[in-house]
Amino acid sequence: MAILKIARMGHPALRRRAEEVADPEAPEIRRLVHDMIETMADAQGLGLAAPQIHIPKRVVVFHAPDGDADRKTGDPEEWKPTVLINPTIEPLSDEMAYGWEGCLSVPGLRGEVPRHVSIRYRGLAPDGRTIDRAASGLHARVAQHECDHLDGILYPMRMTDLSRLVFESEFHRVVEEAEPETADV
Ligand code: NI
Repeated sequence: MAILKIARMGHPALRRRAEEVADPEAPEIRRLVHDMIETMADAQGLGLAAPQIHIPKRVVVFHAPDGDADRKTGDPEEWKPTVLINPTIEPLSDEMAYGWEGCLSVPGLRGEVPRHVSIRYRGLAPDGRTIDRAASGLHARVAQHECDHLDGILYPMRMTDLSRLVFESEFHRVVEEAEPETADV
């Protein structure tokens, strides 16, 4: 197992369409998944896609912020990330919502991105079992962000207002500015 280098925006590895995995139970896929989980944990990320570590395969790992079927305990250290091989996403409604995202391949920045509020995602787990889940909110947002990486799409490419692309160090100013609009005072 290894902690791998994460490609940053501008590297061609992030812009390619990744290939389907022929055998999800192959030993090299098991190793890849372990390395991705280790790399994600080291970088303190919420999710990671294989192209981010220069592997052009359709594999993503992420922590489902709610309703993670693999989440069995209240201790975050023991939460298992969701692993999806050859995932597909289907929107469950036309409703979109804006939310703030960051990306390990776009360090130091955050942007406000429109995403489907409610989706269904399907894929294979490393043991060959099918994962088929409905997700909404942050869970749906993270899944869409990770699966976009498999098609060479980074979150700034989804943004509709680039004035909402900000440095993390300035983020508190944007949030403070937005708060009076959302708070009923
Ligand atoms: Ni990302």
